Amino acid sequence: MRVLIVGGGGREHAFVRAVLRSPSVSEIFVAPGNPGIAAEPRTTCIDVPASDVAALVDFARKQAIELTIVGPEAPLVLGLVDALTAAGLNALGPTAAAAEIEGSKDFAKRVMRASGVATADWSAHRTLESARRALPDGPVVIKADGLASGKGVFVCDTRDEALAALVKILDGTPEVVALIEERLSGEEVSVIALCDGEDALLFPPAQDHKRLLEGDRGPNTGGMGAYAPTSAIDAAGLGSVQRDILRPVLREMASRGSPFRGFLYAGLMLTPRGPMVLEFNARFGDPEAQVLLALLACDPVPAFLAAASGRLEGHDLRFRPGAAACVVMAAKGYPDKPERGAVIEGLKEASLHADILHAGTRLDEAGRLLADGGRVLGVTVAGSSLADALSHALRACDCITFDGSQHRTDIGARELERPSP
Ligand code: AMP
Ligand code: GLY
Repeated sequence: MRVLIVGGGGREHAFVRAVLRSPSVSEIFVAPGNPGIAAEPRTTCIDVPASDVAALVDFARKQAIELTIVGPEAPLVLGLVDALTAAGLNALGPTAAAAEIEGSKDFAKRVMRASGVATADWSAHRTLESARRALPDGPVVIKADGLASGKGVFVCDTRDEALAALVKILDGTPEVVALIEERLSGEEVSVIALCDGEDALLFPPAQDHKRLLEGDRGPNTGGMGAYAPTSAIDAAGLGSVQRDILRPVLREMASRGSPFRGFLYAGLMLTPRGPMVLEFNARFGDPEAQVLLALLACDPVPAFLAAASGRLEGHDLRFRPGAAACVVMAAKGYPDKPERGAVIEGLKEASLHADILHAGTRLDEAGRLLADGGRVLGVTVAGSSLADALSHALRACDCITFDGSQHRTDIGARELERPSP
């Protein structure tokens, strides 16, 4: 079987590794991929951007691709899965209409309200006057409605901060919408489920580390590292996520004529009122994919194909015992102004300790590997315990050098400190 994976980051490198487990897969194509992906066996990177829907459909048709897995949100929102399906091809990911659950936070909130899912109270506004009138005195969260690559969320302590955020978002463009949300508190957990429109198979719960600096300080990033499983939520809690969050949302999406197939990512906050949804993503998380796919103990392709065709029943995903950790190595200047071009060294030695998944890398004419994006590498280990996985990952990070590189040494620290249940 020939598989096409769309995207070129650490998540897509993790997908390649997962799909390579399958004896039924003869060849993998990745659009556009990266140098780490290109070095994998049976894998070819093609020079097609992830957002070029027409070229991707053309490629999949000509190469007789039997399964396309879409990594990032942009091609989903552009309708890549709709176009592949219309061409009679199997694609794992939601349609553009279903991807609205990530593409519009207001849409996601309305789906949650209609399905009775616990989430922060909110109001949506098109004008500054209306937002100003609705703004309470206490702490709130201000969000831009559309896709903002993680840059559209402002967690505000004061009314002045909230007003400043609203001014930034409501810049006079008529179609822009801002949300004012009740600010929740608690620990955050990512629950990702493989969905077929009706049913959901859960991956183990994971925890991302969004802040740049140790101790969860500094600016928000795409994610500086992750580990799984997390004991922040127990089996009963996960059961309630399945029963009270995922299934009702899948039912509601289906009843709206947009059944959700693909990876549904629930960003949860574990509040004193129980797990509440902060956001949904219509795709696998990054760097959650790096750890969750590293924990797979089965060939995932049959379940992926089944989800794509709407028939997950009878399939499951199995995971190895132990834990996985991913430490992200980011470029100098990340997240504000990541610098490109630093020469990366030490990967050979590092790979004795960890799987080095590439994100923002590129080869120059001389064949040297360069940093070429914000998040550069995802240093990933599945081990017998979290402590074991982390110590190997950090040892690997110590082997890798590039000018100005940044990584956190406290990924998973909270889990290690938790009293065992
Ligand atoms: P989002 O992109 O909606 O997940 O928001 C990004 C981050 O902002 C989350 O990971 C939380 O840390 C924080 N956040 C979002 N919504 C809320 C909320 N209602 N209350 C508290 N923190 C929030
Ligand atoms: N790790 C957060 C995300 O993928 O959105």
